[in-house]
Amino acid sequence: MNEDDVARLWDENAATWASHVRAGFDVFRDEYNNPAFLAFLGSVAGLDLLDAGCGEGTNTRILAGRGARMVGVDLSTEMLANARAAESEARLGIRYEATSFTKLDGVEDACFDVVVSTMALMDGPDLPGALRAFHRVLRPCGRLVFSIAHPCFTNAALGWETVEGVQVLRLRGYAVDKPEIESWRFGAAPEETPPFRIAYFPRTISEVVNAVIAAGFRLTAMEEPCATEEACARHPRLSRHRGIPHFFYVGAQK
Ligand SMILES: C[S@@+](CC[C@H](N)C(=O)[O-])C[C@H]1O[C@@H](n2cnc3c(N)ncnc32)[C@H](O)[C@@H]1O
Repeated sequence: MNEDDVARLWDENAATWASHVRAGFDVFRDEYNNPAFLAFLGSVAGLDLLDAGCGEGTNTRILAGRGARMVGVDLSTEMLANARAAESEARLGIRYEATSFTKLDGVEDACFDVVVSTMALMDGPDLPGALRAFHRVLRPCGRLVFSIAHPCFTNAALGWETVEGVQVLRLRGYAVDKPEIESWRFGAAPEETPPFRIAYFPRTISEVVNAVIAAGFRLTAMEEPCATEEACARHPRLSRHRGIPHFFYVGAQK
């Protein structure tokens, strides 16, 4: 599976993805991932940020709303079309570019304070290439902060089942190296919605962390957030993630 395949799949997902995220069907993002990730990221006011794999731009707009000067890049022209449409409707000064985050063609060296990537790096085939490109476009001491699906609980996951009244996640592997096409829809989406089809490139935690270090970064923090009690009370489906984190965050510095 190469980047053309990834772009085609995301082009196909784009219209439903954008409308469902904006309708609030992505409860994991709104109630679990974004609150934890934004706290992990810290203040971005007045900084130049690159959002790598920005998709339809919901998180890019959130960061612009927090005072960052934003550039978003993505492979999928359809995801970008949705992002640009939102920018035309309510201008936040965000620039969107169609390019792969593994090359960042057309992006100057050393022009960002922070590179952020939310839930995108596990969707691309070349993580080392992406990390080298991020290092290139960051200013000296610039920060890289990204989220991916937690490798331990996503690689080769078969799904949840209830065993003796307890929710159990079934896995058939961890150190697997074949990409897969995942099919799922947002938890709050109508049942009749056709699922998204998403390329997933499994990597172990050591592969991810070693790739960050090999690209020239100094690792500064990692986090494996669990869903909060308050979020679980509002959305009981999140309770599976009180003790099994669904996300893995990395912070690093150039
Ligand atoms: C799960 S979506 C996340 C989008 C956005 N970051 C968010 O949090 O809503 C993953 C995005 O990564 C993009 N993507 C995957 N591989 C990419 C690559 N090599 N370069 C740029 N974007 C890529 C896809 O097109 C898709 O829009």
